[in-house]
Amino acid sequence: MTAGIAPAIFVTGGAGFIGSALIRLLIAESDWTIVNIDKLTYAGNLESLFDAAKSPRHVFSRTDICNRPALDALFACHRPCGVIHLAAESHVDRSIHGPGDFIATNIAGTYALLEAARGYWSGLDDAGKAAFRFHHVSTDEVFGSLGSEGSFDETTAYDPRSPYSASKAASDHLVRAWRHTYGLPTLVTNCSNNYGPCQFPEKLIPLMILNALAGRPLPIYGKGDNVRDWLYVDDHARALKLVFERGAPGATYCIGGHNEKTNLEVVDLLCAHLDRLRPRAGGGSYVALKTFVADRPGHDRRYAIDAGKIERELGWRPQETFESGIEKTVRWYLDNPDWVVRVQSGAYRQWLEANYGNRP
Ligand code: NAD
Ligand code: DAU
Repeated sequence: MTAGIAPAIFVTGGAGFIGSALIRLLIAESDWTIVNIDKLTYAGNLESLFDAAKSPRHVFSRTDICNRPALDALFACHRPCGVIHLAAESHVDRSIHGPGDFIATNIAGTYALLEAARGYWSGLDDAGKAAFRFHHVSTDEVFGSLGSEGSFDETTAYDPRSPYSASKAASDHLVRAWRHTYGLPTLVTNCSNNYGPCQFPEKLIPLMILNALAGRPLPIYGKGDNVRDWLYVDDHARALKLVFERGAPGATYCIGGHNEKTNLEVVDLLCAHLDRLRPRAGGGSYVALKTFVADRPGHDRRYAIDAGKIERELGWRPQETFESGIEKTVRWYLDNPDWVVRVQSGAYRQWLEANYGNRP
């Protein structure tokens, strides 16, 4: 496949939760051709792109970011003016049970992508080199865990504590080293917990919505008093577009929604929306399904982001409050039973099987 006339950028992980939201935004609100590089792991779902997948400016390549020759070929073919790198193993619980894929994709995959980008970038003329951006999308979890006070910002020291966050921290360090050593024009963003449409139902919010609708227990780790700082996924996508277009090369930006909530508060709010929008058959509240289960090993206590830098320097502000975003999210899962059923049944993998059979 070749790119169209519009200049190309690469988005890795574009079939995932945040990557698909970003591509939907970029197709609607930019002129780029988007080369979507995704291996399609269990978390990759091309159906999350909806109409954006049909745009002539969307080019999909099923490629593992650990495959350096394949990456070299993509750079040579599409000659992108930048990369927004989201492809990763992203779920903390999976990293605890099996860290190997996290080391491979998040560390070795980022290394392969950096080297492929550097090889291509080195051959550009001076103007092309100066305009190129390698934007690495990372997490606030690299900063560790907070007590009851304070927040993370761009100056916070790294202190990752799970296999997932350690692998993301390693990838952040690699990206900054490629800037410092080779001059590659990199950007790093560290964002707090995202929620919204098309999130794989292993993460807290979609898991709770879909378990509730199915009458299954709502498993709350420990006492449910751990705190996360929630951001609606489209607000994150808007921040990523802004940083990619206007961020200062070499800079880091922390992104967050100023929405600190305990897990219990989140689950109670979800139950309240469901009680109103889809009352339980037989009566009673969904809160009766809440079930306290064993805590996550090494469970980080609290995350909170100070997003002052991106607000001051780039003028970004989240458009959704937690209340508006959560209501939109609950309504989206209620209004999109096809997406839900195809994810839960595994039917969303049919395209992959039809095109690639059993090949990994
Ligand atoms: P996700 O798990 O929903 O999607 C990850 C995507 O990467 C999938 O489409 C998957 O197929 C693809 N992928 C995985 N391994 C690959 C490989 N080896 N080669 C190519 N593609 C591969 O993740 P997400 O929640 O959309 O997160 C995207 C990025 O944002 C990640 O880097 C994550 O660390 C970061 N992040 C996520 C959050 C959040 O709350 N979800 C918050 C901050 C930062
Ligand atoms: O902070 C950003 C990070 O947020 C991202 O980098 C990760 O990719 C993303 O998965 C997310 O990590 P968390 O571990 O915070 O998200 P998760 O949805 O898995 O859990 C949110 C909180 O809810 C956490 O305190 C654990 C708790 N939890 C989670 C699940 C799945 C439960 O109590 N029960 C559950 O069943």
